[in-house]
Order: sequence, then C-alpha cells, then structure tokens
Amino acid sequence: MIETTTIEQLREVVRAWRRSGERVAFVPTMGNLHAGHAHLVDQARSHAKHVVVSIFVNPLQFGPQEDLANYPRTIDQDRTILRAHGASLLFLPSVAEMYPVPLDDTTKVAVPNLSDVLCGAARPGHFDGVATVVARLFNIVQPDLALFGEKDFQQLRVIQRMVRDLAFSIEIIGVPTVREADGLAMSSRNGYLTQEQRRIAPRLHEALQTARARIVRGERDFQAVEADASAQLAAAGLRPDYVAVRRADDLAVPRADDVDLVILAAAWLGRARLIDNVRVV
Ligand code: PAF
Repeated sequence: MIETTTIEQLREVVRAWRRSGERVAFVPTMGNLHAGHAHLVDQARSHAKHVVVSIFVNPLQFGPQEDLANYPRTIDQDRTILRAHGASLLFLPSVAEMYPVPLDDTTKVAVPNLSDVLCGAARPGHFDGVATVVARLFNIVQPDLALFGEKDFQQLRVIQRMVRDLAFSIEIIGVPTVREADGLAMSSRNGYLTQEQRRIAPRLHEALQTARARIVRGERDFQAVEADASAQLAAAGLRPDYVAVRRADDLAVPRADDVDLVILAAAWLGRARLIDNVRVV
C-alpha cells in the first residue's frame, strides 16, 4: 500500500494508473476504521483495480461543541486493516494540505434543504463541512466511483445531490450498513459506550425494526409510528434526538401513498450520539 500526505504525490500515482486504463475507487474516511469501513474497501475492490482511502478528521464538519480534538485517532490499526483488505493508496493529508487558507475564508459547498433537516438540524453546518471536504477530495483523487456507508443515510443523499448539482463525473455507491451480531450498526462512536450502554445500544435498531414492521403491515400514521419509536427508545434508556419516517429519495415528509421510505433515528446514549436507519420498500 502506497501512503502519502500530499496532493501532488497522490495525483502522480493516480495519473499513472489512469494512463494504464485502470479504474480507481475511492473510500473517504475519518479513520478509526472498523468492519464497516473494511467492507467498503472490499466492495470498492469489486468495482475497480485500485482503491484509494483517505483518512482525514475534517475540522469543517465538527460544531464548536463537538469533540474534534478527542476524535479517536488509531492510525496504526487503520493501516493494518487497509493493508489486509487490499487498499492501494492511503491518503493522509494534514489540515494545511486540505485547507490551504483559514477555514473561515475557504470556499464552501452547501447543499440546501437536505442539509438542514434531521441530523443537520441538531448539527448546524455539519453537512456543508462534509460536502466541502468530499468535493475537495473528489477533485484531488478524481476517482471513477466513490463508496459511502448507508448508516450515514443523510450524508449519502447530500453527497449524491452535490454530485448531481455540480456535475461530478463520479459514480456514488451506497453500501448497506454492517452490524454487530445484536443489530448495532458499526460506528466509531460505539467506542464511546460503557459496557452497560453497549448492552442498551442495540435497542436503537430494534425500535427502527418495530417501526418498520408497523408500516409494512399497513400503518400510515407516520407521526404515531415516530412517536411510539421515540417512546420505546426513551424507555430503553436512550435519549432520542429524532425518529423520522421519510421518503428515501429526497428525505421529504412522505404522503400516505409513498412507498419507498426510510426510517431514520438519532439518539444519545451517554457521550455517544448514535444514528441508524432502515429502509421500507
Ligand atoms: O463519513 C465520514 O467518515 C465523513 O463524514 C467523510 C465522508 C469521510 C467526510 O469527512
């Protein structure tokens, strides 16, 4: 696996691959890799000869109250995982490499509406930070395709919209969430959970499954489904931020006859703000 911290060197390597007619897949990450990321790399390899992985803890997507400084950094372990899964190139830029001008002055990418709801309502500016860094990474790597986990369903939709609106010539692939045996979605944030909280955490997925089953059985009072799922989470010891039944394509509030739906939830458990979602099709 090639490793570089500079845009220049990355471009040189990727250009040589392209000259040989080889496809390039890209998996952007913030490190602290787990089985979910490893699965993204595996999927990427099934689409392209070369897989570029970036590890960059993006300051632009953290709010002032969020813990950028304490975000888990596990680079040695990350390298081992990436090597084992056959990544071709690890891009590890510094903040100065990614943002050559101060963050307040740098050009931003904003995806309106989609970015302001659900997780965006609780984390103002978060998705603009994600869209901005992903746009810059796309321009640096210029991959044929890029892969994102469906656990971050709103992020996936924001990126798909950005790619469409800004005419990036990159195929975006959403990869189904990898779960622990008890249903908990793999996430770096699970590392914040105490043993007792870890025992409670799968109740988030359970509440979503219950909500899904009701809709599949024909329930069309989505607000009642959301309220009951929130109550179920609170009773289990989580502090729900939201549970929302939305249209899967644009995250709009569905009408009773919409069929392609997603149920999304965010809930606090101790220090961790867990998110998850399930599709209803
Ligand atoms: O999902 C993540 O880890 C990040 O939001 C991403 C896409 C790497 C952008 O920083």
